[in-house]
Amino acid sequence: MSASPSKLNPIAQSLNEKLEEAAPEVLAMLSEYGRRLYFPKGIISQTAEAKQKAHRFNATIGIATEEGGPMSLPSVANQIGDVPVADAITYAPPAGRPGLRGLWREKLVAENPSLGDKTFSQPIVTSAITHGLSLAGELFLDPGDVMLLPDKLWGNYRLTFEVHHGARIETFPFYVALDSSNSNSNSNSNSNGARGARGARGARGMDTEAFAARLGELGRERDKLVVLLNFPNNPTGYMPTPEEGEALVAALEYQAEQGTKLVVICDDAYFGLFYHLGSASMTESLFGKLTGRHPNLLAIKLDGATKELFVWGLRCGFITFGPGRSETAEVVCEALDAKTRGAIRGGVSNVPQLSQTLVERALRSPDLTAEREAKCETLRIRAERVFEVANQPKFAESWSVYPFNSGYFMLVKIDGVDAEKLRVHLLDEHGVGLIATSATDIRVAFSCLEAEDVEPLFESLHQAIQELR
Ligand SMILES: Cc1ncc(COP(=O)(O)O)c(C=O)c1O
Repeated sequence: MSASPSKLNPIAQSLNEKLEEAAPEVLAMLSEYGRRLYFPKGIISQTAEAKQKAHRFNATIGIATEEGGPMSLPSVANQIGDVPVADAITYAPPAGRPGLRGLWREKLVAENPSLGDKTFSQPIVTSAITHGLSLAGELFLDPGDVMLLPDKLWGNYRLTFEVHHGARIETFPFYVALDSSNSNSNSNSNSNGARGARGARGARGMDTEAFAARLGELGRERDKLVVLLNFPNNPTGYMPTPEEGEALVAALEYQAEQGTKLVVICDDAYFGLFYHLGSASMTESLFGKLTGRHPNLLAIKLDGATKELFVWGLRCGFITFGPGRSETAEVVCEALDAKTRGAIRGGVSNVPQLSQTLVERALRSPDLTAEREAKCETLRIRAERVFEVANQPKFAESWSVYPFNSGYFMLVKIDGVDAEKLRVHLLDEHGVGLIATSATDIRVAFSCLEAEDVEPLFESLHQAIQELR
């Protein structure tokens, strides 16, 4: 006996009808689960109504109260400094604290000039970016759906999208070929001017042509494609140049025009950490450029306080939608907001209140910008040191450096030694921990290296390679 799909709830039905009318393309992008999702008129919405109107007794809330506030234990409440207990230990709304959502939106507009007066959703709070990725998968991926990502990717995407959602990840080469036969070429651009950012020893920037070609191939074969672009990138530490950014946007717009429904997820985890090594990189998210671009293109921005505010374990991130049709974007945002709240409510219920309060209060702090700039400068100095050291001619026989200019990481391509063997040898014999991301590539997280440790680290890497040869 085959299981029958659960009947569509009337609220889900109504959300889908709104989408059908406002942007049928977006309805077509949704997964089966995404179509079934809705935010119930249940405890949460009844509680919200009671909060407004129940002036005598409000016996709706699923917490314990006394003397007009949440019941709390001094052993807990005494730990939280001047944060009011109600802003620390009570439940946050499924979409997050309204104040935090508003402040994060203001930050997006301030940091992404391309968003200008475009219509995009209020950011919804997620349990950091990993949860945002999972939500995007729940909303837009059915088993067997195809995703396009660069071949240099954060390994956890495989757990989220392949193992959890049953999607198929296809890749394109991230960089214009980085090999010794290329290293004498002085060419820094191609016919569409898309390749900039000369890196070390002839290595060039992002292969936007390969992206466009793979997008075209995969788009021709199916109605819907989910594209995930992560900039600054993990593991490479690369942020595209403005020209490369334009080329990526142009390729996506062209494919949308061909009729492929494109869900484009921008994983902006390392946003803001731009060091412009080698040449100037973009300093805004592709999300701003993709929002309002084409009806067949839905942009999704995933970002968070985790890296941007250096609060990894607070688990505070955001998912923001940028519809393609500006005329009906508000309706689409409302429907997607309700569906996302439903997914959060049915998944993790809500994101910790205390984390959200801390981030909200930090965003209100007049010192935050200067504090972030100071930390970014510390990381920039380390990145610059790595750029100098790793590219020294004496190391050329051991590795090539992939272009990098941003974020936490850089990647080297090891010559003649298996990267995993090298990793283990470095650990066992040199006490150095690095990450092998493929058979040839080793990732260095300079985010956790003091500037003076950079040279000894690369010396050890070089020595270890020589020992293994
Ligand atoms: C590219 C990328 N996306 C997302 C994440 C996860 O971020 P969060 O801690 O906010 O879940 C990471 C963290 O390593 C990452 O490198």
